Amino acid sequence: MLNFEILATEGHARRGRLALNHGVVQTPIFMPVGTYGTVKGVTPRSLEEMNAQIILGNTFHLWMRPGLDVIQSFGGLHRFERWDRPILTDSGGFQVWSLGEMRKISEEGVKFASPVNGDKLFLTPEVSMQVQTLLDSDIVMQFDECTPYETKGHLTTEAEAKFSMELSLRWAKRCQAEFTRLQNRNALFGIVQGGMFEHLREASLAALVDMDFPGYAVGGVSVGEPKEDMLRIMAHTPHRLPAHKPRYLMGVGTPEDLVEGVGQGVDMFDCVMPTRNARNGHLFTRFGDLKIRNARHKTDHRPLDESCSCYTCKGHTAADGTVTGGFSRAYLHHLERCGEMLAPMLATIHNLHYYLHLMQEIRDALEAGRFAAFAAQFRQDRARGV
Ligand code: GUN
Ligand code: ZN
Repeated sequence: MLNFEILATEGHARRGRLALNHGVVQTPIFMPVGTYGTVKGVTPRSLEEMNAQIILGNTFHLWMRPGLDVIQSFGGLHRFERWDRPILTDSGGFQVWSLGEMRKISEEGVKFASPVNGDKLFLTPEVSMQVQTLLDSDIVMQFDECTPYETKGHLTTEAEAKFSMELSLRWAKRCQAEFTRLQNRNALFGIVQGGMFEHLREASLAALVDMDFPGYAVGGVSVGEPKEDMLRIMAHTPHRLPAHKPRYLMGVGTPEDLVEGVGQGVDMFDCVMPTRNARNGHLFTRFGDLKIRNARHKTDHRPLDESCSCYTCKGHTAADGTVTGGFSRAYLHHLERCGEMLAPMLATIHNLHYYLHLMQEIRDALEAGRFAAFAAQFRQDRARGV
């Protein structure tokens, strides 16, 4: 089940409402990444407190560990990981691509050795649909080949990008047939490929639109290309997708990329950046990014971001009304220097809250018809520096 309604627009940008089997998602939205059935370092309760509406999972990783029989015995990924809001699962196409030399791609699918125990595995469009059906994810991604920016040490040629894109189209057909055969009641998204070539992107998009998916993703960006190429594809492809269906830009990006992407008509984003960077002590704030390991934070009593209302910055109010304040930069610096577990936990809460709150601000601005003004102020604030 998927129902998508557009509530307001401004230029290419849209404010929408996406109803899925496990609940409603307000768009534009950022989806935290939960590869192994956990958003690293945060509890589902904490995610709910930050108002995360939908999270990701990964077919590839969950298929390896704990394996399908375990997740099936729980009746799906939601009950296994104790998250009852929507889940989107990636198909394994991108993760297999990340294996590099360890894989062998054919028309049929991708053969590779399990990075966990060396078992020989064969991931095909059909297997990806079977796994994602057992996981019972609300949004199932087609199995695709993420066209790399470089192939064997040279920039991917047009012929290589075309071959890869057409393979993904044939796999899209097979995914659709298997998804139907399995009577999956969730929603299957097609993924536009075509590398850095606009006319290949247009051919991919047209063929996928003919197949009539309930939603579409733009893949094959953020694959090592220069920023200007990413921005060029971001400006080219999303707004050409069907206006009445949700659009998902895969694996993007920085806060600036999200604001840019919304302006280009994107409704959904995911990226490891807020969570991964948090674990490396890289924090996002309204006035730019901050490295908490830096010695200048050693005695600083201020929170990471004065304007942030996350648990890390603002603390919490107990049931009896007692207010406990937020954590100082000095304390976070200390935790980080000591390698304490709480350092990445508090950093992850802050970074995810920052991303999710940014999307809330974007939605509010779209509803008020002031997205352009918001985007201009956002860029100016971020460039100021902390
Ligand atoms: N994640 C980031 N980019 C991609 C892509 O092109 N395909 C898939 N399946 N996942 C992605
Ligand atoms: Zn914060």
